[in-house]
Amino acid sequence: MDQDTVVLSLRQLTKHFGGVVAVDGIDLDINKGEFITLLGPSGCGKTTTVRMIGGYEEPTAGQIIVDGQDITNVPARDRNFGMVFQDYALFPHMTVSDNIAYPLRMRKWARDRVAGRVSEMLDLVRLDGMGKRHPWELSGGQRQRVALARALSFSPRLLLMDEALGALDAKLREYMRVEIRRIQRLLQITTIHVTHDQDEALGMSDRVVVMRQAKIAQVAAPRDLYTDPTSVYVADFVGRINLLWGHVVEHAADATIVELDDPFPPATATRIRARRTPDQAVGSRVRVGIRPEAVRLVEGGGVLAGVVSGARFGGPLEYVTVAIGPDRTLDLLRRPGDAPPQGNVLLDWAPDQALVLPAD
Ligand SMILES: Nc1ncnc2c1ncn2[C@@H]1O[C@H](COP(=O)(O)OP(=O)(O)O)[C@@H](O)[C@H]1O
Ligand SMILES: [Mg+2]
Repeated sequence: MDQDTVVLSLRQLTKHFGGVVAVDGIDLDINKGEFITLLGPSGCGKTTTVRMIGGYEEPTAGQIIVDGQDITNVPARDRNFGMVFQDYALFPHMTVSDNIAYPLRMRKWARDRVAGRVSEMLDLVRLDGMGKRHPWELSGGQRQRVALARALSFSPRLLLMDEALGALDAKLREYMRVEIRRIQRLLQITTIHVTHDQDEALGMSDRVVVMRQAKIAQVAAPRDLYTDPTSVYVADFVGRINLLWGHVVEHAADATIVELDDPFPPATATRIRARRTPDQAVGSRVRVGIRPEAVRLVEGGGVLAGVVSGARFGGPLEYVTVAIGPDRTLDLLRRPGDAPPQGNVLLDWAPDQALVLPAD
């Protein structure tokens, strides 16, 4: 994978539908061989973005550059991109092989070359022997793999997938995540994937583009998005997080000191040490975000005191809710093997694990 070569650039890409701004001036560079995911809630502009890249939607403004060439006005069929939609859109009257061969016949490939490629593609998506079947004789996961094979058969420059796993049940979806990544790595094809599912985005992608109301909120590798979110929106959308209100008191050498606004029990220190974040000016109102797994129960000292008020079982994980003030709770992750905490508890965390985020 050559991570330094930009294949696709979006420059101020914008789409208006009448008065609706569906995509609002997006800038993004995607590297060769990269698997990138657009993640965000329904209606934030993911589909419109990927449809503009594919040439199925005309931008209102901005540019799409591929390998240094402006393709903004190039028709979809001349872009040579593969696309997989949520509903697969297979041709029902055609066999699996004919579905996969369709883009090749459109491109006037010779008959024996088509046959060779179809058999390679069936092998790639692990559907050998299924070529003569029709779509209705296949399971959802198999149909999805045919759609993928059809999108890849002509060696497209880019693969675009819009909620391609959305119609599958949870188990199959997880299997297909791994399969798609295996195939994508094998072919080293630059891929833009769209989903509203954060697990899917974090689990599959080299980088994730988090979108919010027609704009990009943050672009980062999954791990960085989780550990270094730059906004409450991203921190909250990607994983669970406890959010407290406060204001910055001081930037010390190794921490930012925040005074929490919430009325806490008098025995509790309301000034806490958080990750050093000098770009939040002293006096500014901030949110402090702490992941549940960063919260520890301690015997003495501690940052906050609270009372256990509930627990939620979730398979291997159990979230324990601690009331830390009137109308304020904080979740922590109960460690496997630990006794369930009860009654009054003291909570602690490493200052670096308390993120200082703009209040916005
Ligand atoms: N063809 C269309 N005509 C009018 N509005 C549209 C059209 N397509 C999308 N929109 C609007 O644009 C916004 C973004 O939609 P979309 O790109 O489908 O979001 P997502 O895929 O993230 O759910 C939404 O407000 C949606 O209603
Ligand atoms: Mg969509």
